[in-house]
Amino acid sequence: MDFKLSEEHELFRRTAREFAQKELEPRAKEFEDKHKIPKDVLQKLGELGYLGLAVPEAYGGVGADALSYAIVMEELSKACASTSTVVTVQNTLVEFPIVEFGTEAQKRKYLPKLATGEWFGAFALTEPESGSDAAGMKTTARREGDVYVLNGSKRFITNAAFARLFVVFALTAPEAGNRGVSCFLVERDTPGFTVGREEDKMGIRGTSTCELFFEDCRVPAENLLGEENKGFKIAMLTLDAGRIGIAAQALGIAEAAFDEALKYAQERTAFGQPLAAFQAIQFKLADMKAQIEAARWLVYHAAWKKDQGEDYILESSLAKLYASEVASRVADEAVQIHGGYGYIRDYKVERLYRDARITRIYEGTSEIQKLIIARQLLGRK
Ligand code: CAA
Repeated sequence: MDFKLSEEHELFRRTAREFAQKELEPRAKEFEDKHKIPKDVLQKLGELGYLGLAVPEAYGGVGADALSYAIVMEELSKACASTSTVVTVQNTLVEFPIVEFGTEAQKRKYLPKLATGEWFGAFALTEPESGSDAAGMKTTARREGDVYVLNGSKRFITNAAFARLFVVFALTAPEAGNRGVSCFLVERDTPGFTVGREEDKMGIRGTSTCELFFEDCRVPAENLLGEENKGFKIAMLTLDAGRIGIAAQALGIAEAAFDEALKYAQERTAFGQPLAAFQAIQFKLADMKAQIEAARWLVYHAAWKKDQGEDYILESSLAKLYASEVASRVADEAVQIHGGYGYIRDYKVERLYRDARITRIYEGTSEIQKLIIARQLLGRK
C-alpha cells in the first residue's frame, strides 16, 4: 500500500491548482452572476486537456487515468464548481460512453471535437417525470428505415445551452422497461430537436441547465450508441464513472470551505481573542478535517479501483455518497464559523454552501447511492 501520489499525479495537481487559483478563483463570482463560463475559460480548459482527460491520445485526448481526473476535478472545484461541472459532464457523461461503446466511426467523428473543446456535449437521461427512476422515462425512439424518430422531452440537462452533441436515452421497446432503452448521439441541429429554457438554480449558477424537446426528431440509425435496447446499461455504467467526478467535486468544495473557515477563525477576534482560540471552534475544525480526509481516500480509492480495471460500482457510490454529504456538512460549518459574514454573497463560503447542495442530488441522489451500495452488498432485494 502506497499513499504517496506519483510524480505524474502531483504534476496534474500542481498544474490544475495553478490554473484554478489564477484563472477561476478571481472570476468565479462573475461566472455565477453572468450565468455562464466565458469562452476564454472554456478555451483554456481545452488547451490544458481538461476536456478530454480520459480520451485516448489517438482521438485527440490526454489518455490520463481516473486518479488524474479526480485530482483535476478536486482542484478546479476548490475555485469554481460551475467550471468543474462543465468538465465532469464533458469527460464522463459524454466522452466515457463514446469511448466505451462507440463505433470506430463515432469515435473518429466526435471524440477529437469534444476532447479539444471545439464541441461541448450533454447527457440527457432525466425527464420531467423520471429522475431517480431512470427507466421510468417516456421519450420514445421508433425505427423508420435508416433513422430513429424520437419524441418526448428531457429536463435538468447540464451544459445544454451550448452543447453541440447530446447523449440521449429513449425507449425503443416501451413495454420492456429498462431492457427497452437505447442510447443515441443527437447533434444539436437535428430537425425536430430544440433546447428549451434555462433553469434558475440555487447553486452552480455559472452552468446552464435546460429542457430538451424531441418532436419527430429524425436521428440517423448510425447514431445509435451501442446496441438497441442495451442503453440502460450504458447509462448505469456511465454514471458509475461519473460519480467519481462528482465525489471529487464535493471533496474540492469541502476543502475550499475548510480553508476559508480555518483562515477566518484565525483572523477574526471575539471576546478579546481569535475565534480559533475557542474550543467550540477548534472542535468544529477538527471534525471538518477528519471528514474531509476520510472523503479524500474514498474518492482516490474509487478512482484507483477503476484504474486497476476492477469493478468499482460500490466504491464510486460510497465515494459520491460520503463526499457529497461531507461537502454539505463542512460548508454549513464554514458558514457558521463566519457568522453573519457567511450569509453574505461577498464571502466565498456562501457560494460553496449553495454549490455543495447539488452534489447530493445529481448523478444519483444520496438515497439512490445507498440503494446501489445495498444492492452491491446484498444482491438485488
Ligand atoms: N452499474 C452497472 N449496472 C447497473 C447499475 C450500476 N450502478 N445499476 C443497475 N445496473 C444494471 C443491473 O445490473 C441490471 O442489469 P441486467 O439487466 O444485466 O440484469 C440493469 O442495470 C437494471 O438494473 P435494475 O433492475 O436494478 O434497475 P432499476 O430500474 O431498478 O434502477 C437504479 C436502478 C439504480 C435506481 C437506477 O435507476 C439509477 O441509477 N437511478 C439514478 C439515476 C441517476 O443517477 N440519474 C442522474 C441523472 S444524470 C445527471 O444528474 C447529470 C447531471 O446533471 C450532471
